[in-house]
Amino acid sequence: MGRFWHSFADMAAVESGGELVVDRGEGVHVWDEQGRRYLDATASLWYCNVGYGREEIADAVAEQVRRLAAYSTFGDIANRPAIELAERVSALAPVPESKVFLTSGGSDSIDTATKMARRYWQLVGHPDRTLLITRERAYHGMHIAGTSLAGIEANAVGYGTLVGDVAKVAWDSPSELREAISFAGPDRVAAFFCEPVLGAGGVFAPPDGYLAEVRAICRETGVLFVADEVITGFGRVGDWFASSRWDLEPDLITCAKGITSGYLPMGAVIAAPWVAEPFWQPGAGLWRHGYTYAGHATVAAAGLANLDIMERESLPEHALDLEGALAQALSPLADHPAVEEVRAGTGVLAAVQLDASAIAEDPRLPGRAVSACRSNGILTRALATGGLQVSPALVLDAPGLEELRSGIAAALDAL
Ligand SMILES: Cc1ncc(COP(=O)(O)O)c(C=O)c1O
Repeated sequence: MGRFWHSFADMAAVESGGELVVDRGEGVHVWDEQGRRYLDATASLWYCNVGYGREEIADAVAEQVRRLAAYSTFGDIANRPAIELAERVSALAPVPESKVFLTSGGSDSIDTATKMARRYWQLVGHPDRTLLITRERAYHGMHIAGTSLAGIEANAVGYGTLVGDVAKVAWDSPSELREAISFAGPDRVAAFFCEPVLGAGGVFAPPDGYLAEVRAICRETGVLFVADEVITGFGRVGDWFASSRWDLEPDLITCAKGITSGYLPMGAVIAAPWVAEPFWQPGAGLWRHGYTYAGHATVAAAGLANLDIMERESLPEHALDLEGALAQALSPLADHPAVEEVRAGTGVLAAVQLDASAIAEDPRLPGRAVSACRSNGILTRALATGGLQVSPALVLDAPGLEELRSGIAAALDAL
């Protein structure tokens, strides 16, 4: 019996089926302990944007660990890498002069954004604005706040009473958002949480005009617009942020993953200056919120080295070029009898959706498809809808793209 308790796992199945122990990585590939090579179709969990094995991040980390691995950033204490990273992220952010609150990951960022939004309304004299609106299919991480905001129903059941004052709307309907706000009364609503492209919920790009419309509704009603860019931030949708690409000017952005490409764990909440202002003004006092590893010096150093690479190699632009090529490569898979559709064409993000009736007949189909992919040299996983996740590192080149396409095609044929 093993001792390592895996995340999001049926441990009895892991015990009987065995573990895949990933050992090393280089570029878009990883190797397991048996030396088998896989094209990593998912960049681990959507995060390894710059690809594996970057010496320059390793060097930056080693140097910082030797100098000062970490020190608390509570109160008036800071460290240079954290300050620099906040400056860099603020300069890249879609809203000028944004403030950057560093966390240890996406779920931390969601928790922080939830509290920041409600606290903001307290500070500006609207303490009744506590309602949080979320969308069906949404994944906002697994802390209690994110679990409470879960649009993937199965992720939220079985934990008793969660964070209260949450309403859910359809993922694709601005008018439902408008109705939810007017039903509650705008003076009750704190924030609307919105993944610009829904990720774990199945890779659903926003319908045409959706983002502009929901942004406008939030602006009209004073509701804070929170863009959850944990997946879409830092290049994955062909710009530094989805919010830049679609001109959303969010009040808050939650991010993680690509900020360090996962070399070390970090997240952030980027607050527009007008949201930060009441917290920063004289007399606002202490905000009792923060995490032990917020602004961790070594993690921040990894983040800075990661952003150097992304800038030098123009990875957001490369991602924009890749989005069409990826969609073109994967679209023919939609003709396969096991496939219902291929969702692709917005960023380096896609899902090869397995046929719903085939899944209903054989609920183990997605798992079998993932195994078949592994046997054909492709590492992927099944999303909530039974789609195969495709979100490789942004450095994927033409041969890598062909390896990805042919591996998935061979796996589907082997089903
Ligand atoms: C959109 C979104 N928000 C939040 C999270 C939570 O991030 P983490 O797993 O780093 O806590 C994720 C994770 O995949 C995500 O995709």
